[in-house]
Amino acid sequence: MSLQLVVFVSGRGSNLEAILKAIAERRLDARVNLVVSNDPQAKALDIAREHNVPTAAISNQGLSRKEHEEKVLAALKEVDFDFIVLAGYMRILSAEFLRPFLDRRGYYRIINIHPSLLPAFPGKNAYELAFNYGVKISGITVHLIDEQVDHGAILAQESFQRLPGDTLETFTRRGLAVEHELYPRVLNEIAKHGIEIASGNTHGNSTVEPKAELAAELTTKIKESVER
Ligand code: GRF
Repeated sequence: MSLQLVVFVSGRGSNLEAILKAIAERRLDARVNLVVSNDPQAKALDIAREHNVPTAAISNQGLSRKEHEEKVLAALKEVDFDFIVLAGYMRILSAEFLRPFLDRRGYYRIINIHPSLLPAFPGKNAYELAFNYGVKISGITVHLIDEQVDHGAILAQESFQRLPGDTLETFTRRGLAVEHELYPRVLNEIAKHGIEIASGNTHGNSTVEPKAELAAELTTKIKESVER
């Protein structure tokens, strides 16, 4: 069965669009069962609707992190999924939120894309930070998340060059093109083969189960955490 995904977004949604396009073109064996946004105005929600994907706009305005995350968990408990895919989600997820997504191998079932070659330039505005630093080569990282921001086991990295005459805009555009190709490709690898974390890696050495047998187990864990 296809990989079942929930995608978290906050803004433009170009990565969500690339994922949905890859699914439609059968380059990615997956289904997006829900798109969650903390910004009800996010363009990404329109993209989801255009593809007939259910959406949950859960504004964080006026809510504490805990209150907001409880609402998000409540929405997730209605959905089956193997992984949460972060695609420009601009909120930090608390350790409390992450807990139900811990795989029995010790990894959270949450994947992120970050526009730098981590561990360089974590955090916001990574394109700008890398460009202003004057890097000659930058890149994109897809990784499993952990409790730290833009940190966790790296699943794939793809580099791109800063060319003479580049502006921040052309540099960013080149990087985004890499993102849009890389994210669906990595997700499809996971759909086919699961995740192998290489040995000799500070994040441990293991295999992450490709499928949530898990889906049921996850739902139970989310329910427990919502009810707590
Ligand atoms: C991308 O650059 C992604 O790597 C970063 O946030 C941006 C989101 O862009 N995490 P979009 O909303 O997918 O267009």
